[in-house]
Amino acid sequence: MITPVLLCGGSGTRLWPLSRKSYPKQFSPLTGEESLFQASARRLNGEGYDDPVVVTADPFRFIVVQQLAATGITPDAVLIEPEGRDTAPAILSAALHVARTAPDGLMLVAPSDHVIPDTDAFAQSVAAAVPAAQAGQLVTFGIAPDRPETGYGYLELDAALTDDIAPTPLRSFVEKPDAAQAAKLIATGRHLWNAGIFLFRADTIIAAFQEKTPDLLTAVKAAVDEARADLGFLRLAPEPWAKAEAISIDYAVMEKAKNLSVVPYRGKWSDLGDWAAVWRETAQDGMSLSGPATAIDCTNTLLRSEVAEQTVVGIGLDNIVAIAMPDAVLISHKDRAQDVKQAVQVLKTKQ
Ligand code: GDD
Ligand code: MG
Repeated sequence: MITPVLLCGGSGTRLWPLSRKSYPKQFSPLTGEESLFQASARRLNGEGYDDPVVVTADPFRFIVVQQLAATGITPDAVLIEPEGRDTAPAILSAALHVARTAPDGLMLVAPSDHVIPDTDAFAQSVAAAVPAAQAGQLVTFGIAPDRPETGYGYLELDAALTDDIAPTPLRSFVEKPDAAQAAKLIATGRHLWNAGIFLFRADTIIAAFQEKTPDLLTAVKAAVDEARADLGFLRLAPEPWAKAEAISIDYAVMEKAKNLSVVPYRGKWSDLGDWAAVWRETAQDGMSLSGPATAIDCTNTLLRSEVAEQTVVGIGLDNIVAIAMPDAVLISHKDRAQDVKQAVQVLKTKQ
């Protein structure tokens, strides 16, 4: 059986103003009826899966429980981080929790901000990954790239990709290269994007942390050992947690590990990281309109109103995203969608 580990502690600032500190993007229905978090939980539910372990932040704990209840899924545990320390401590705390009852238990770590509509193709890739993970590999899932994206990790294969989805050893892992390096990696034809989804045994990933970042292991282990049960949540202990380095799993372990494998995933996949990605995912004939929104002579544009009584109208726009919320409106060039993060920083300093 596989324990799904759902990460949903990120604040998703690049999707401001829809994504807020108190209600980030993974809990909003961005592209369909359900939230991305609910869709992620459903994807990893049913045959072959145990109940999920959710790792989240304090303000989201009731949203997590409510949204899971609406899908009929009962979590095995909801771990609450005293503060966000990025994905490495979050994943390690889940591994230590799983290892208490099943040291060699398989964990499928999944972000909760992805769109993966091809559930069959995804299930096939997971099934193909299981033997390698059982044998002690850290298995990554690779997506064929179609642009030199700088927001992703890159997985280097030994040879060009074939149709096979059997796990193959990875030559290297490069997290978030700059634009020039990303273009070079793509040109080799031997690189896949890291989907940000991982399959491994709990003891394999704990051993990797022990080897690469022993101090982080010491801090997180103490936070898990001293965790406090509270109304069905498990609160990680704040003092040791504060000593855990804030670092992503990609930098902490994946870039340095030798026992890495990759399984290609050939279905549709999107990390809804910014408004340009939401546009790519939802646009028809180049236009994405949501809520009361009207476009006249617009191209490659996303107009979205989250307010029933407030219409957004675009005239003669090209490559624009406009998002209207009750208390904030974003208007940005689509190519600058990544910079929304900066805008959020600026607003923070003004408060
Ligand atoms: N619990 C918890 N705590 N979850 C977190 C935290 C945290 O401190 N920080 C981030 N997360 C969650 C986010 O909510 C998201 O679901 C997931 O972990 C991944 O974090 P991101 O911040 O979205 O990572 P990324 O998109 O920049 O990069 C990762 O994903 C890419 C693919 O989407 C990397 O793994 C890249 O290599 C990969 O290509
Ligand atoms: Mg992401």
